[in-house]
Amino acid sequence: MMNETLLDVNLKVYTDAATASKYVAYRIATEILDKQIAGEKAVLGLATGSTPKKVYQHLINLHKNAGLSFENVYTFNLDEYYPMQPVADQSYVRFMNEQLFNHIDIPKKNIFIPDGTLSTDAIAHYCESYEQRIADLGGLDVQLLGIGRTGHVGFNEPGSDWDSTTRLVTLHDVTREDGAADFGSKENVPTQAITMGMQTICQAKKIILMAWGEHKASIIQRAIEGTVTADVPASYLQQFKNVEYIIDNEAAALLRK
Ligand code: PGA
Repeated sequence: MMNETLLDVNLKVYTDAATASKYVAYRIATEILDKQIAGEKAVLGLATGSTPKKVYQHLINLHKNAGLSFENVYTFNLDEYYPMQPVADQSYVRFMNEQLFNHIDIPKKNIFIPDGTLSTDAIAHYCESYEQRIADLGGLDVQLLGIGRTGHVGFNEPGSDWDSTTRLVTLHDVTREDGAADFGSKENVPTQAITMGMQTICQAKKIILMAWGEHKASIIQRAIEGTVTADVPASYLQQFKNVEYIIDNEAAALLRK
């Protein structure tokens, strides 16, 4: 029998990541333009990793070739390794600059990425102020998400509470394995990170979760059709109406529909 809740799932399956990414980029561009017309700020929650790269390329194209301005845009990134220097090859500050910010007209003061350089005793206060900054800007209008093989969104690994907020976390072994290529080996991948919490993410007005490739098929099935459980933090998203799942055929392969 078809799962009742599944009928409500806002799921779009595309033939490939390139086409899907174009759709997501247009969604974000529309949000930015709507806010510009209303004379308002657009507050975006952004993700790193391989998943959103093509979305950022399309946004850069829209800036360069269609005049899309980011002057009214504020961004909050989901996470950063801890410790991490912003100039390091693996830093998400560097990633965001190279993949997006260096190529668009967003004011630098509007960009927020968790700070991997803090002393440990400064982290709790910093995390509270990260939450406060988002709240002061009226909350996140759109949150972009990838999904890790552990079911994490941001670095909310299995065991994360549904009402967690921005905090220091320990990375799952599988996540460190997946990071090994960037760091040369798993041992070099930091064991900790600062991440927005599940509550931070779920309070966004719109959430777009993207997944490409067959290596995501199993976790996508559990996240969308499985039980809502802390074992798969992305499954918490099933409880919210404002979530759109944008995936490719390969990531959709194990969905029962
Ligand atoms: P990926 O990572 O985009 O590199 O697959 C996603 C994630 O771990 O959240």
